[in-house]
Amino acid sequence: MAFDFAASREILALMLQKTLPHNLRTRLLKSAQKVMKNAHAPYSKFRVGAAILLSNGKVFTGCNVENASYGMTNCAERTAIFSAVAELGPKIEICAVSVVNDQGVPCSPCGACRQVIYEFGPDATIFFQGADGPRQAHITELLPEGFRLQ
Ligand code: THU
Repeated sequence: MAFDFAASREILALMLQKTLPHNLRTRLLKSAQKVMKNAHAPYSKFRVGAAILLSNGKVFTGCNVENASYGMTNCAERTAIFSAVAELGPKIEICAVSVVNDQGVPCSPCGACRQVIYEFGPDATIFFQGADGPRQAHITELLPEGFRLQ
């Protein structure tokens, strides 16, 4: 776990209004920038960092981890989510995700990561670099009609 926002009132505000207070957004962004430095990206040379904020205030981070067998690569977003599940179990709720890359280019979560975010955060807000600068979007905007089993 990267850290714990004890400030649950602010997280409640995010869930109700879909806006993350500026200080929390900045801290999430900084966590993503820090973990990005740990990326293993010798093939693409494209380092990515992600930080996720859970409804309990905890923050988990992840970077992309590539492999010589390219398809084995794990994106930063999924690394962060799997790390949270490994530590806390599957009953987590993702409120927000921040994604950054080391080239400052547009980079929204890939399709696979969108589906994984949706599984644990059907109401999550994603912060990323869009084509026209920093953007935020609801997960269902990025993944309309996401798949659920039940
Ligand atoms: N990548 C991520 O980690 N997250 C994204 O949102 C987009 C792509 C990684 C996968 C791969 O290691 C590299 O970026 C180039 O595709």
